[in-house]
Amino acid sequence: MSAPDVVSYAPGKIILVGEHAVVYGARAIALPIKTGIRVAIAKLPDEKSGQGPIIRGVGPFLMGEFSQGPKSPKILREALSYLVEAFGMPMLDLAIVVDGTLPPGRGLGSSASLSVALIRGIFRYFSKSLLKDELKKHALALETIFHGQPSGIDHSVVIEEQVIGFRRSDFGPQIWPITPIPELKFVVGIVGPHDGTKNAVRELAERRKRHVSLYDGIFLGLDEIAQNMEEALKSGQIAKVGELMGIAQGYLNALSLSTPEIERLCTIAKRTGALGAKLTGAGGGGAVIALIEGDGIDLQRAFLEAGFQSFITEVFEAKERRTDG
Ligand code: MEV
Repeated sequence: MSAPDVVSYAPGKIILVGEHAVVYGARAIALPIKTGIRVAIAKLPDEKSGQGPIIRGVGPFLMGEFSQGPKSPKILREALSYLVEAFGMPMLDLAIVVDGTLPPGRGLGSSASLSVALIRGIFRYFSKSLLKDELKKHALALETIFHGQPSGIDHSVVIEEQVIGFRRSDFGPQIWPITPIPELKFVVGIVGPHDGTKNAVRELAERRKRHVSLYDGIFLGLDEIAQNMEEALKSGQIAKVGELMGIAQGYLNALSLSTPEIERLCTIAKRTGALGAKLTGAGGGGAVIALIEGDGIDLQRAFLEAGFQSFITEVFEAKERRTDG
């Protein structure tokens, strides 16, 4: 691709508390992280025009070239077909390069980040203004292709670009900014990829059927943690945020969402002085987020000695608050 005509970026996300419970109406808290996905869009060269959109992933998030053709994975074909249906024939002339350091399948919002960066990039490419509601509609449609029936928390935090409280209700999602927040820094330890958010949500629903009141009691407990964590964040008590993360992890383990690898990383994190550690997102693999003070190098070294890669990330701060999409 020659020089891109437009470039857009969207952050990844961390759920501090409330994954899965949010599907059943509990409050959750999520934050955007600096690690994210970049999308560059240009016109395909003349000899390929009409054959697009062609997505080229230059890793590590996505590697290879993908189109609507049968050789591409079904999920990407569906996403590309959605974009062509939504934005029409001019999409067939587009070359899209996807670049980013956010690892996929780790509960870090890679699909929401890709969806939001893509939609923003496409609107920018066609010089169309984008309202937030429109962005949300398209991002939800793409997330539904990637995830099944998402609660909406992932793309909401990626779009809002600030720490949010989130709760599902019969009238649609309630989203509120949590502010002010103290400086938060995380070491993110990478374990094997999870089995897909769609499967994780479906399997938890099956387990819940056997123990409805016990599961719902845990969701209530997680809801209480979210309320307490919101207060702790606003009053700058980060040690308490860490403690609450640890309690949430206990509940997530009780819901069979943890794994021996996740438990191991949480133990290493605590022994190495992290304020708190837990899985984030779908669970059953993915990543462990450890809230740290200091530079996190000791913890990264300890993870590496145990055989796990990690990276350090912080809350993404938008240069200016967007009023539109
Ligand atoms: C995935 O990041 C969070 C889940 O709660 C699913 C969802 O809310 O859509 C597991």
